[in-house]
Amino acid sequence: MKVVVLTGAGISAESGLATFRDADGLWQGHHVDDVATPEAFQRDPATVHRFYDDRRRELRAVAPNPAHIALARLEQILGDDLLVVTQNVDDLHERAGSRRIVHMHGELLSALCASCQGRFAWDDDLGDVPACPGCGNSTLRPDVVWFGEMPYDLDLIERALIQADLFVAVGTSGAVYPAAGFVRMAAVAGARTLELNLDSSETSHLFDEARQGPASKLVPEWVADVQAPSH
Ligand code: APR
Repeated sequence: MKVVVLTGAGISAESGLATFRDADGLWQGHHVDDVATPEAFQRDPATVHRFYDDRRRELRAVAPNPAHIALARLEQILGDDLLVVTQNVDDLHERAGSRRIVHMHGELLSALCASCQGRFAWDDDLGDVPACPGCGNSTLRPDVVWFGEMPYDLDLIERALIQADLFVAVGTSGAVYPAAGFVRMAAVAGARTLELNLDSSETSHLFDEARQGPASKLVPEWVADVQAPSH
């Protein structure tokens, strides 16, 4: 059985990382337009670097929760038949043990050089305007996909969706495309679809089944069911 699991900020909420839309449009006190757009970075790179330095510091202080751990366990069962597509830029899936992950919105612990396109693991502070370890230019930026930029690996994701037997969305509001359109793409290609979310989302009605509750409860229960089908 080929499974694609899409995760959003809600899977990391119980680890202590704020979601985007539960904080009435503010992300840690910042408007998205001031810290998560190419224009903001052009205008004031130091503020953007400081914002992501804070996010990296915060990430170091939290740990994966039972939902991340259950998905890592599922990968041990399904192997290459499972793909986790995450909108999150945290590394909690990796730290839980998942290996087959696509970060469609990039990764907090990676830096990208706007000049040489080099990527560098980055877990300490970028400082104000750091020099690229590759080409030496002061053009390093957080390797995250900002509003108005293209998400990563969409062709790979769409190929997986078309081949999926089951599509599961965990902890995502369905507010942002293209991720919000994945359920329809999977369903049209014949997959069963399941939503696991704290509340109903903007796309709940598009799923064959939508369960409400915390991810740390719903995901382990669902994985246990996949492991030993009760029916
Ligand atoms: N368990 C399960 N779901 C939860 C939990 C929880 N403990 N807590 C919150 N949720 C749900 C909320 O009900 C909401 O539907 O997680 C969802 C979080 O939605 P958003 O904050 O919109 O996060 P997300 O869907 O990942 O946002 C998508 O938008 O801001 C951009 O690029 C950013 O990747 C992000 C994208």
